[in-house]
Amino acid sequence: MSTDRLVVRRFTPDDGEGLHGYLSRPEAVRFEPYGVQTRAQCDELAGARAHDPSFWAVCLRDDGTLVGNLYLHHDDPREWRSYGLGYVFHPDHWHQGYATEACRALLDVCFDQWGAHRVIAHCDPRNEASWRLLERLGLRREGHFRQSASFSADDAGRPVWHDAYLYAVLDTEWAAANG
Ligand SMILES: CC(C)(COP(=O)(O)OP(=O)(O)OC[C@H]1O[C@@H](n2cnc3c(N)ncnc32)[C@H](O)[C@@H]1OP(=O)(O)O)[C@@H](O)C(=O)NCCC(=O)NCCS
Repeated sequence: MSTDRLVVRRFTPDDGEGLHGYLSRPEAVRFEPYGVQTRAQCDELAGARAHDPSFWAVCLRDDGTLVGNLYLHHDDPREWRSYGLGYVFHPDHWHQGYATEACRALLDVCFDQWGAHRVIAHCDPRNEASWRLLERLGLRREGHFRQSASFSADDAGRPVWHDAYLYAVLDTEWAAANG
């Protein structure tokens, strides 16, 4: 699918270099459950994502540069028609509205063509850029979970807990705001 400035497409095994452009940056993965990725890991990821329908590559329409990726997973039970959204963009391309533009295009397809009832997203409360993006898109903050996740351990091996916000938007809300 394409927007004014972007193409949102499936990954290919050749996207390793593009992925490495941002997954090697600490600020891009600070709130992800993994650390910075090597070029070899990015080549593997590109191969895996090429076969994973939940991942979407976001590229500039002008020159094809990979500026980020979206994740949209159909959660179980499938008949509840609920999807989980995620995203990581290249720090060199933040603050230009690309994430908003790409998410909006994918959510339009998700609600209008795939028949989603509800789209949710989780984010760390410290990740203000992420929850501001969700609010720009029209998702509502539905919950604040205390110490619900841990992506790292302290020196003694104990989990370092962090909070999470839950955001969501319903089909009726999306249609009213974007229809
Ligand atoms: C979350 C993330 C994608 C948000 O990126 P972002 O650049 O803030 O979001 P957008 O691309 O939508 O850009 C919005 C900004 O561009 C500005 N902008 C400029 N031109 C714009 C346009 N044409 N349309 C919309 N916004 C525009 C907006 O005013 C906004 O500015 P602000 O950052 O000063 O508020 C980014 O911070 C990221 O990749 N973080 C690392 C990964 C991560 O944490 N993922 C989430 C885990 S839960």
